[in-house]
Amino acid sequence: MWLFAFFATIGILANTINVTQAKFDYNCNLTAKGSPKFPDSFSFGVSTAAYQIEGAWNEDGKGESIWDDFTHKFPEKMDDRSNGDIAADSYHRFDQDLAALKELKVTHYRFSIAWPRIYPTGDISSKNQKGIDYYNMVINKLIANGIEPLVTIFHYDLPLEIQKIGGFANPLIINMFVTYAIELFENFGDRVKIWNTFNEPFDYCKPGYADANYPPQVNAHGVADYLCMDHSLKAHAAAYRTYKTKYYEKQRGKVGITVSSRFFFSHTNDQEAISRGMQFNLGFLIHPIFSKTGGYPPAMVETINRNSLKEGRVSSRLPKLDGRWRELIKGSSDYLGLNYYTSRYIKRASKPNGENPSWERDYDSDAYPDETWVRGKPDWLYCVPEGLEGILKYIRDHYGNPEVIITENGWSDDGDPEDDDRIHFIKAHMQAVLNAVNDGCNVTGYTVWSLLDNFEWQKGYTHKFGLYALNITSPSRERTPRKSAKYYRRVIETRTLPSIS
Ligand code: BGC
Repeated sequence: MWLFAFFATIGILANTINVTQAKFDYNCNLTAKGSPKFPDSFSFGVSTAAYQIEGAWNEDGKGESIWDDFTHKFPEKMDDRSNGDIAADSYHRFDQDLAALKELKVTHYRFSIAWPRIYPTGDISSKNQKGIDYYNMVINKLIANGIEPLVTIFHYDLPLEIQKIGGFANPLIINMFVTYAIELFENFGDRVKIWNTFNEPFDYCKPGYADANYPPQVNAHGVADYLCMDHSLKAHAAAYRTYKTKYYEKQRGKVGITVSSRFFFSHTNDQEAISRGMQFNLGFLIHPIFSKTGGYPPAMVETINRNSLKEGRVSSRLPKLDGRWRELIKGSSDYLGLNYYTSRYIKRASKPNGENPSWERDYDSDAYPDETWVRGKPDWLYCVPEGLEGILKYIRDHYGNPEVIITENGWSDDGDPEDDDRIHFIKAHMQAVLNAVNDGCNVTGYTVWSLLDNFEWQKGYTHKFGLYALNITSPSRERTPRKSAKYYRRVIETRTLPSIS
């Protein structure tokens, strides 16, 4: 019995090791095409987000966000029952982050501003000067050290009070977001020249309003998630237009939005299935902004309208984008922020997917990984650098070759300091970017997710994405460079992709 238990344990351990500890001496690299050097103007950075690193959740007047509320009320929904109350404590320890940024020699730093730190209730009437002071300190120190701030205005941490009136399901969010964005343009726009309105709307709208995994845990598939996307898009466009008419002349900055998407491959060269995959993922927000015609992607409009009528509704669950809004949204980005992590193969669904109604049912596709792809710690993260090259070329060919900044790309593991897997992942993905640049894609920057280990949403602190390890149990939260930090610094210093030693 004892012996059996022993071997069973070894078996389980071996399985775990196989899955989580990828070895990249195979199948996570990309052949170089063209110049081995990134252009002189190319910017190298790292990324973080307020709730994932700041801590100080209720200090200096900060209001409660939906993530504060969610993690406090439902700790069992996080793998380690953790929260962002202290996290990396960057609110008090920005100097430790700055030291890491300087050591890496990054040329930009992407971080987000916590809306409830600026407006604790979400509304202008609650303006909190201490929150503004904090970000002034961050921005000033970055600039003093020659690091360009790339500021995300919203990265999931909605003020709780706004959620109480419906959050992204209430069209009021459009005006509230613009008012908040104006506050940031007014206070920081003299120094911040790259604004990112929203981080990945699909990734808070779907888990938050369809799947009920994220706050506000609404379970209204195929309805509230679409509404959330629509309102986010409109809020983005309204903030963009406000910047252009009221601030651009003086401040001369860029405003864009960040979307995440996978690229799709087909084992049977089914171009229709690939196009559907691209339209339902990348295209959901990109088509309204960057296509010549504007509006939601044709495959989504057609399918969701047809399905909605079949369900007995009088109109489509996908809001109509026409008239004034369609025009306001079209062209409303100076650059596209792209978060790229992984890709999939795709084929048309063999049986109905998901609940009725839902994005899955409308999508009507099966997406699956290739069995040879190397997997990281999360079950969704496979190393597919050719997908990044593919998606960049797709954007070039289908959306008029806009400026693209890779705002996130990264690998998660158990926290090995000798993180060769992460190095291989970064090298292969940067090669994809370089190949795309060499082939005429207008990519101007690359950003690693993440500077340091942080609160990985429902995975808590169990999944590590950092170039720097964070000592989460130590009161002073030391940051220690992993081997990948040293590699990334060599990339930045040489503007090439040195071989891995
Ligand atoms: C999000 C980050 C998250 C990362 C890794 C991105 O989609 O913007 O907040 O930590 O993925 O899961």
